[in-house]
Amino acid sequence: MLIKSLTMIDFRKYELASLEFGDHTNILYGENGAGKTTILEAIHSLAYTRSFKTRLDTDLSRHGRVGYQLKGLFSDHQGSDHEVRVKVESARKKLVSVNKKGLTSRAQIIGKFPLVSLTPEDGDLTFGSPEIRRLFFNKLLSQVDATYLENLQVYARLLKQRNALLQAYSNDGTPIDRIQLSSLDDQRARVSALLHEARSKHITEFKKLLYLAYGELEDEKSLKMAFISNTRITAGEPEHLYRQAYQDSLEEDMRKGTTTRGPHRDIFTFYLDTKDLRKFGSQGEHKLVLVAIKFAEGRFLESFLGEPPVFLLDDLFAELDVKRSTMIVESLHGGHQIFITSTDLADLRHHGLKVQGDTLQIIDAGKIQAHG
Ligand SMILES: Nc1ncnc2c1ncn2[C@@H]1O[C@H](COP(=O)(O)OP(=O)(O)O)[C@@H](O)[C@H]1O
Ligand SMILES: [Mg+2]
Repeated sequence: MLIKSLTMIDFRKYELASLEFGDHTNILYGENGAGKTTILEAIHSLAYTRSFKTRLDTDLSRHGRVGYQLKGLFSDHQGSDHEVRVKVESARKKLVSVNKKGLTSRAQIIGKFPLVSLTPEDGDLTFGSPEIRRLFFNKLLSQVDATYLENLQVYARLLKQRNALLQAYSNDGTPIDRIQLSSLDDQRARVSALLHEARSKHITEFKKLLYLAYGELEDEKSLKMAFISNTRITAGEPEHLYRQAYQDSLEEDMRKGTTTRGPHRDIFTFYLDTKDLRKFGSQGEHKLVLVAIKFAEGRFLESFLGEPPVFLLDDLFAELDVKRSTMIVESLHGGHQIFITSTDLADLRHHGLKVQGDTLQIIDAGKIQAHG
């Protein structure tokens, strides 16, 4: 996949801007606050209908404006062009179209324009709470498995309804409708078994790619990733076991006013030499694992979708030594379109990027200049 051009209207600090991109490495160069990350956000917002920084379109609209517009021209590996447009007219009105055809759900675009983004916020993937890792894997698996995405959406709806019953009970003793709860848990057990099976299958694949990617960057320590199902049931086991687990935890759920068991509480953990990375990893170790996750993500998407993803790399070299950075740059130069932001060209060269021959765009307070 490539993105050839981008137009932004009232998107963050951009009133109106159009850019053309090169097929290989695109360097977005400018001072802090110049608007580099915003360009990556715009690309992400086209491909996934939302930014990697916020879910709120009101944050993305230029201050003082209601709404924004984006247009991107993508080209797949077979050379077919796809025009994606996002038009936000108000907090409630958002239109997304691909080749002028309006979409009715996000599922229609997820997985069509694969991107791998590495931004400072992604640090949370190894440093942050389990919820962040769940979101990451949900997003990843949703792109390659439409049924998984559908099941996630169903599960989220069931969970919301169940939590509303529990919450009302724990707040003011509103009696729980047992028939409704039981029906929700029947459905939840069915979807849980499906989600669990899909997670387990895909995670096995992902792990292989992850260990490979990590091994390319580091050979002293070994990385392991664990996927721990919150229900402690083995994937592939019949759904009545989930049903039973949900029945068994009902008392606790009523006391806590929330649903304590289920795939929404599954855990993904990374270990370096058997030590929990989150607790014991150094900054540099975290970053290296993060980069390996992103490489694995790219290869995972490519193998399932048959389409090389675009890499959006924001502040990639922070906390990385030159040796590792050079290796990363080299392994990325494998036919992917890459976006790299920088405030310092000398630093980019120092980390192994060519700069000359790549596409350089000078980003300056909303004014953009293309170079070569
Ligand atoms: N909704 C918005 N409207 C106008 N300006 C915004 C909006 N959101 C962020 N900005 C401004 O955009 C700038 C940040 O842009 P960003 O792309 O993150 O810069 P860079 O990545 O080059 O450091 C900041 O100056 C910020 O105040
Ligand atoms: Mg930035």
